[in-house]
Amino acid sequence: MCGIVAAIAEREVSRILLEGLKALEYRGYDSAGMAVIQGQAIDSLREVGKVQRLEQALEAHPLPGRLGIAHTRWATHGKPETRNAHPQASGHLMLVHNGVIENHQHWREHLLEQGYQFSSDTDTEVAAHLLHQRMASGDELLSAMQWLAGALEGAFALAAISTKEPEHIVACRKGAPLVIGVGIGEHFVASDPMALLPVTRQCIYLEEGDVADLQRESVSIYQQGQAVKRPVHRLDTESGRASKGAYRHWMLKEIHEQPAVLAECLEGRLDSQGRVLPLLAHDESAWLQSIENLHIVACGTSYHAALVARYWMEEWLQIPVHVEIASEYLYRRVVVPDKTAFLCISQSGETLDTLNALRKARKKAYQHYLGICNVARSTLVREVDHCLMTRAGPEIGVASTKAYTTQLTALALLMLAMGQARDENSENLQQAGKQLLRLPSDVEAVLAHADAIRQIAEALMQKTNVIFLGRGYQYPVAMEGALKLKEISYIHAEAYPAGELKHGPLALVNEELPVVAVAPNDRLLQKLQANMKEVQARGGQLYVFADEAVQPEGQLRGLVHLPLGGDWLSPVRASVALQLLAYDVAAMLGHDVDQPRNLAKSVTVE
Ligand code: AGP
Repeated sequence: MCGIVAAIAEREVSRILLEGLKALEYRGYDSAGMAVIQGQAIDSLREVGKVQRLEQALEAHPLPGRLGIAHTRWATHGKPETRNAHPQASGHLMLVHNGVIENHQHWREHLLEQGYQFSSDTDTEVAAHLLHQRMASGDELLSAMQWLAGALEGAFALAAISTKEPEHIVACRKGAPLVIGVGIGEHFVASDPMALLPVTRQCIYLEEGDVADLQRESVSIYQQGQAVKRPVHRLDTESGRASKGAYRHWMLKEIHEQPAVLAECLEGRLDSQGRVLPLLAHDESAWLQSIENLHIVACGTSYHAALVARYWMEEWLQIPVHVEIASEYLYRRVVVPDKTAFLCISQSGETLDTLNALRKARKKAYQHYLGICNVARSTLVREVDHCLMTRAGPEIGVASTKAYTTQLTALALLMLAMGQARDENSENLQQAGKQLLRLPSDVEAVLAHADAIRQIAEALMQKTNVIFLGRGYQYPVAMEGALKLKEISYIHAEAYPAGELKHGPLALVNEELPVVAVAPNDRLLQKLQANMKEVQARGGQLYVFADEAVQPEGQLRGLVHLPLGGDWLSPVRASVALQLLAYDVAAMLGHDVDQPRNLAKSVTVE
């Protein structure tokens, strides 16, 4: 999704801005641009495509100067074209923008009446002209930005510079993250701390509604016109981008990191007897026990993690668990029974749909507001009462892998903690805890079957449609497998609960259609076998990911035997196998696996 980087320094800033943009590439974008002030002049470059194209443009046309803004854009208003890329200009000023301005149409009409002309389709240009108009009527850049933050509706972050005031950058945060980097005699702004790592470890996280004024030697922050102080944090060096090492793609590296990050997620949270130690707060036992209903809200892969957790929690805790996609939860009447907790799950902690769902939930009478997240200083972490961190480390590949399996691990821990709060001495829960302790090595064992999985990928890479089947725990696994495949290979893939085939999708099955079934050795195996026969009877091409003890009958196009098991944690093991499948197909097709088309790592618009 869009990225902002800005810098004011004693030295030239174009290289700093460029390195910042490169650090944000993982978030997904379709164009990039930069503007730098030198003396009384402002100059800019904008390119559709990768940051590398902007870099080449800069070689041909350098932008000297010590004050500048830069941006990677992910199209929302207007196609990915140069005229829609940022910075957007209005006379003496230029502006970059993340997020969406909802009342842009209203202001566009107002500006047209005032004689302003538009050269882009963006809501950003509306903000640039408004700032310009405000300065034309006497405001300085800072007060114009303070006014603008109030006048615009939506969720956004802005940074602007002007040749009329070439000694500072002004930025504001309203619904989209923004962080200030503090250097020695230099300051920076970025939408993600990743962009700051090449230049500083000191940072200030802006709060909602903050407007910041950055000069070389000082930073001032205002909230509703009043000066406020915000603490300076030290960026964790761990959040720096390690290298891909020998791996061809970040996604492959992240798939193989899973045994280590699952161990990290469990570290200090389970004792050797499988008992959960306090996860969220020292007094958690009493209030976890009192939860009688759970509402879980998330998007995409995080939603799939929640679906797996519903099976776990309803089975082990026997409490009703309602799981919903955040963008749906947002726009319907939600009924909240007594003693219900709200849980939102997000890898980034910045997904706007999920944050808005949390804000809606905050207005309801939930008993607790909980989160599961991977980014310590994210908005989500700050807005929930208690957050369970997944400790997956930075995930660079847009397609979520290690973030997902650590979410599942965190949900498993939460389920055990809630169970333990209800029955402190439950033998079953302790056994489950011991199984969870073995999960990192179980996943290692699945990864050892990568070569066999690649053979199935070779067959699927020729296809245009794939159906994934699973039953019980494996239905959300099939959904996640289908999402992974379509995200990075662009092959159309759908998931069905295997028992649902005969209610419609069976009409699609013929000799051309590949069907991937996930078959752990669990109590639903017989039922799944019957569904697989339905596929075989119609000549469908059946590919099975089966537990080592399972011997599927009939004709198969492909079979991978894996240590999936048949226990409650089999969905984690099976998911890892399907991640490898999707990765192999996409890599063999030669796709940009880490930055698939049209997608962004962190979706900060509605
Ligand atoms: C995962 O592969 C996807 N890129 C996407 O579905 C993602 O899980 C979703 O956008 C939610 O992101 P979050 O976990 O950061 O909130």
